[in-house]
Amino acid sequence: MSARSELASPAVANRSRHSVGSLLVDNIGELVTNVAGTGEGGPLGIRRRAAVLVEQGEVIWVGPSGDAPAADRRIDADGAAVLPGFVDSHAHLVFAGDRATEFAARMAGQPYTGGGIRTTVGATRAASDGELRTTVRRLRAEALRQGTTTIEIKSGYGLTVADEARSLRIAAEVSEETTFLGAHVVPAEYADRPDEYVGLVCGPMLAAAAPYARWIDVFCERGAFDADHARAILACGQAMGLGVRMHANQLGPGPGVQLGVELGAASVDHCTHLTDADIDALASTAVDAQAGPETTTVATLLPGAEFSTRSPYPDARRLLDAGVTVALATDCNPGSSYTSSMPFCIALAVREMRMTPAEAVWAATAGGARALRRTDVGVLRPGARADLIILDAPSHLHLAYRPGVPLIRQVLHNGVPR
Ligand code: NIG
Ligand code: FE
Repeated sequence: MSARSELASPAVANRSRHSVGSLLVDNIGELVTNVAGTGEGGPLGIRRRAAVLVEQGEVIWVGPSGDAPAADRRIDADGAAVLPGFVDSHAHLVFAGDRATEFAARMAGQPYTGGGIRTTVGATRAASDGELRTTVRRLRAEALRQGTTTIEIKSGYGLTVADEARSLRIAAEVSEETTFLGAHVVPAEYADRPDEYVGLVCGPMLAAAAPYARWIDVFCERGAFDADHARAILACGQAMGLGVRMHANQLGPGPGVQLGVELGAASVDHCTHLTDADIDALASTAVDAQAGPETTTVATLLPGAEFSTRSPYPDARRLLDAGVTVALATDCNPGSSYTSSMPFCIALAVREMRMTPAEAVWAATAGGARALRRTDVGVLRPGARADLIILDAPSHLHLAYRPGVPLIRQVLHNGVPR
C-alpha cells in the first residue's frame, strides 16, 4: 500500500495486495467524508481526487486516487461526487392503505390534525403479515435506490399488543433501527380511557414489542399524549433498555422538546414550533461526539411533513445558529409525508429552511447517524460501514441545486453495489 495513504486502518497494513472481495471506488472528484478537519468543507471533510477501498462491508482505506492499494474489483467514479449513504432516522414504513384523498383535501384547504392516523390503524390491523411485509420491503427498496443506506422504522399503526409486535417483527427483518411507537395516538376503542391505554402500552404491549425494538417513541402533542403520559411511557421503555426518541412540537408549542432533553432522548423530531427555552435546552446538550459517550439530543427536522401538510417549515437557521445538532429525515408515512426521498428533503431544507447545501447534506448523513447514536454510519473513514453513494454530479451541491432529478448513480450498501 502507499505510504501516502494516511487514513488506513490497521487491517490494511496486513492484508495481501490481492485479498479476495475488496472493491475500490476510484477516481472520485469530490469525496464527502464527514470527518471534520479533513480537507475542505469544515464538517463535510471534503477530499478531492480521492479513492475509497472497502472489504467485507467495511471501509478499510481512504486516500488519494492513484495511491490506492490493489483491489479485486474497481468502480470508476469518473470524477463524480461520492458521499456517505443517507441515514434516514425517522420513518413509518409499516402500514396498509394510503391517504391520497386526505392529501387532496389538505391541498384544497383542510388542515392536518393527525386524526387520519386512525384511518391507517384500521387498514393496518386488517392487513395480513404478507401485505405489511410487501409494503415495508417496497419502501425500503425505494429508499435504497435514492441513497438511503440506514433507515429507522417505527411501529405505531397497530396499537394492539399483537399488531405492534408484528409491525416491529416485520420492520426488524429489514432494519436494525426499529422503534416502538405504541403511543402514536390513543386508539378509538380507548378514546374515553386514555389512562388505561397508557397502562397497556407500558405493560403487555411494551413487553411484546421490546424484543424487536431498539428505541421507544411517543407522539407528545395536543390530541395525542400529554407530558405526564409521555414521561411515564418513555420511562417504562428506558427501564426495558430502549433508547428514547420523540415526536415533539409538530403541530404547536408544547412540552415535548424539553421533556426529551430531560430524559436524554437521542432525538426530538419535527421541532416545528419552538420557544427560546426549547432551543436553549437543545443547545445545552450539544457536545463533541469524540469527547465521550454521546449525550446530545438532536433536533430532527422533517420538511416532507410541512410540504405535505402545507404548514410553515421549522426554523433550521435558528437551531443551527444556537449550536443545536440538526438532522434531516423523511418521516415517510401515508398521512403527513409520503416520501422516501432524502434528496427531496435536502432540497426543501435548503430552499425553505435556510440551511446551506453543506449543512443539509451533513444533517442527512452524519446528523442522522447522531440521531441514532451511531458512529459507524454517516461517515467515510476506515472502520465505517461501507455505505456510500456515487452521484451523477460533480458535487454534493447538486442535491439541492437540481431538485427532483434522480442523481443517485450507484449505491454501495454494506460494501455491496446496488
Ligand atoms: O410524524 N405526527 C405523528 N405521526 C406522523 C404522522 C402520521 C400520520 O398522519 O399517519 C408524523 O407526522
Ligand atoms: Fe413521524
